[in-house]
Amino acid sequence: MSWLFFASLGLQGWLSRGYDNGAPHSRLPPLGWSSWVGLGRQWPGPEAQAPEFDFCDEASVKLSVDAFHQVGLYDAGYRHFHLDDCWADHERNASGFLQADRQHFPNGMKPIVDYAHSKGLTFGLYTCAGTYTCVGRRPGSKGHFAEDAAVFAEWGVDVVKMDWCFTEGMEPEPTYTAFSKALNATNRPIHFNMCEWGKEKPWTWGPAVAQSWRATGDHVPLWSDTKRVIEERTKIPEEYAGRPFAWNDMDMLETGNYRQAAHANGKTGNMTKVEYRTEVSMWAILASPLIVTTPLLNCSKTDQILGNFTSGSCRPSITPLQKELLLNKEVLSVNQADTAPGRLVKDFGTWRVYSRLMGDISTAVAFYNPSDTKVFASVELSTLGWPKGSSASVRDLWAQKHLLNTFERFPTVGSVGIEPHETLLLRFDRVSELVV
Ligand code: GLA
Repeated sequence: MSWLFFASLGLQGWLSRGYDNGAPHSRLPPLGWSSWVGLGRQWPGPEAQAPEFDFCDEASVKLSVDAFHQVGLYDAGYRHFHLDDCWADHERNASGFLQADRQHFPNGMKPIVDYAHSKGLTFGLYTCAGTYTCVGRRPGSKGHFAEDAAVFAEWGVDVVKMDWCFTEGMEPEPTYTAFSKALNATNRPIHFNMCEWGKEKPWTWGPAVAQSWRATGDHVPLWSDTKRVIEERTKIPEEYAGRPFAWNDMDMLETGNYRQAAHANGKTGNMTKVEYRTEVSMWAILASPLIVTTPLLNCSKTDQILGNFTSGSCRPSITPLQKELLLNKEVLSVNQADTAPGRLVKDFGTWRVYSRLMGDISTAVAFYNPSDTKVFASVELSTLGWPKGSSASVRDLWAQKHLLNTFERFPTVGSVGIEPHETLLLRFDRVSELVV
């Protein structure tokens, strides 16, 4: 039986689905941007000086929608714009409905949503299942599920993320199921992203309720934390790894966030370029939603500290490193493959091989070295499920160039070095096969 036959079985096995409620960008992992650490005033000093991280207002949001295009996210395929825990007024309106912060959004939320739509983006809002949102100053949705779902639908919202703070005595599964019903009762197709940090194994019950869910705790831009998220995600059994309309969300990409980001749970980013590449590579091959959180507006230091985003000093920009990390279409194609999420296929102890079938003749492979020492890697092509006698043309997806041709093992002779914390993200294309 040919290799191609087995490959197509793998592709067909992928056709089972989660809950398709018609919401856009749910069949494949969503690609987007979140305001969470991307919109606040800059953190001007040492850790003791708490930043105002949960800021957003009409001007900064509209400018960020424009910047989404200007920095190249849209052209690279990103489509979703999300406002996190920053937008809601501290009080519900007289009828009990959530309302946008009256000072920051004097015209309400609807014109903002319309603006994002007019620029070809879907628009998401944050809420929380408990009494308050996680920053603790805004109302949560507890006791108001029908009203909140109705108001999101009325504003034209496409995605709702529901957090899990201030939920004493509540259970995730029935709670999220109830909100899912409320959302779907509005008749607007809304992608539901649950955020209980993987506590109650949402991958086992989530596909009936939501289109994506946080599989792990909050991700911050420290290498130890990126490694932790990858470990936790790897432990999810393969049958729950994700499928169309049902995605394990590894949390926002912190790529290149050093001091220019407002906040990351009190952590200033310290990751190297190699580590950030590992972050993107592993999120991509494990089919996590890729939600970037980084400022899209770069202002003078004073304006950034003051949160003066409408000042002339603010320009749409991300750093050259962020462009390299976020806009590489070959890397993004690994995340957007219409196939089962990647999985761990071989654990060598210090380093590991993950692979994801990309199509009839292509397999994406991540050689992941979480250890603190350089390793020298080589692997039988049979590790990828390929038959004996296979040959491959191997492409380096970060460099976007052909790396080498190989027969039976990679590399055919010798080994390739993988630096500490580095991930080689490669694509193996079958070039011929020798049936034995
Ligand atoms: C929690 C979530 C984060 C973010 C904040 C907002 O920590 O996990 O993703 O939404 O709350 O307060």
